[in-house]
Amino acid sequence: MTLRYRKVLLGITGSIAAYKACELVRLLVRDGAEVQVVMSPAAEQFVGAMTLEALSHRPVRTALFDREAEMSMSHIELARWADAVVIAPASAHCLAKLATGLADDLLMTLCLATRAPILVAPAMNAAMWENPATQEHVHALIERGVQVISPDVGEQACGETGPGRLPDPEYLRAAIEELGTDSALKGVHAVVTAGPTREPIDPARFISNFSTGRMGCAIADALLERGAQVTLIHGPIDIPLPPDADCVAVTTAAEMLDAVMAHVGDCQLLVANAAVADWRPRETTGQKTRKSQEPRTLELEPTPDILATLGQKEPRPFLVGFAAETENLEENARTKLRAKNADLMVANRIGPDDGFGETETTLEVVDADSVMQLGPDSKSTLARQLVDHIAVRLSPVSSVVDFSHAARRTTRSR
Ligand code: CTP
Repeated sequence: MTLRYRKVLLGITGSIAAYKACELVRLLVRDGAEVQVVMSPAAEQFVGAMTLEALSHRPVRTALFDREAEMSMSHIELARWADAVVIAPASAHCLAKLATGLADDLLMTLCLATRAPILVAPAMNAAMWENPATQEHVHALIERGVQVISPDVGEQACGETGPGRLPDPEYLRAAIEELGTDSALKGVHAVVTAGPTREPIDPARFISNFSTGRMGCAIADALLERGAQVTLIHGPIDIPLPPDADCVAVTTAAEMLDAVMAHVGDCQLLVANAAVADWRPRETTGQKTRKSQEPRTLELEPTPDILATLGQKEPRPFLVGFAAETENLEENARTKLRAKNADLMVANRIGPDDGFGETETTLEVVDADSVMQLGPDSKSTLARQLVDHIAVRLSPVSSVVDFSHAARRTTRSR
């Protein structure tokens, strides 16, 4: 998965290998990630904050009780901000604190408060690494779903030779790229609604909108890429459908609601991307209405609100709605979030140059108390970023982490 726009919280702890973290920051930033460096007090003895600030373009955070820094982004907000938490190098002391849940400095507090996947890259003297205490801690972390990259074997700064070297920054960059991906949504059944609905006036005419279904299909693709089983319930669209999704074609809002209700039983996630027509003619004629020169009034009634209906269901899946807006995106999206009892609302601007039909667009992902901007980018890239965000929100840490990559290099103590 692309590192672009990924929010990486990089913890650096007290190890001589801390200098390699500078190169890691450079590689992550080069690839488009936002990197917030947090240094433990011991790390400050090994590498300068100014170097890391210059490379990350952000102030380095060091202290838990830093009033100025806390005012701009509190440690809890920082923990929520992160898509991935990486500690490289992770000292023996850091592993011990992480394993026991000690929160006596900023980095450890963030590790406890985050819901993002955590990756640690230990680096220390070989004897310290092999010490049963360290191995016990590593084992506990792996059991808990933390991804641990085994240290490289080789010559150490202390003069010994053995395991304990921090792997190359490029290797770490690749591991971060894979963190929380691939099988992040394995076992999850997702229902996605896409495209417009059509509300017939008579056999020849209907009410609809400009939705192409592209974003819904891109989301279905991105969910499939992450291992989810996807049911795509779509209105009339003429773009290729994701081949691996179970596709259900519908026409009207009422049919879409019926199809959603029939498929949400065992689903954990509903992404309501469809541009459902809000009104339908109160009466539909069986025969074509003849043209006349007289003005004609069409009486409309509201269609069922599919997302709001699901919002009232108990239990209900994780609900992601889309808010098509022309103005005040965040505010309007949050109002819809509350009104429909959704978990996330994705606002997209519609208008002459945005939204429906456009291949490039921007999104604002809004929850009860935060907003995340994505784009401008292609709908497929935005869909991937959105799905990764959903994966982190949906899954507990242990099931988000993908061990397939780590398996080759992960150390188990028993
Ligand atoms: N939605 C729905 N059923 C409807 C209308 C909307 O499920 N009858 C869902 C959409 O799929 C989307 C969200 O509700 O996820 C918001 O849709 P939007 O059209 O932006 O807002 P509306 O609720 O229709 O309000 P308005 O058109 O006034 O902005």
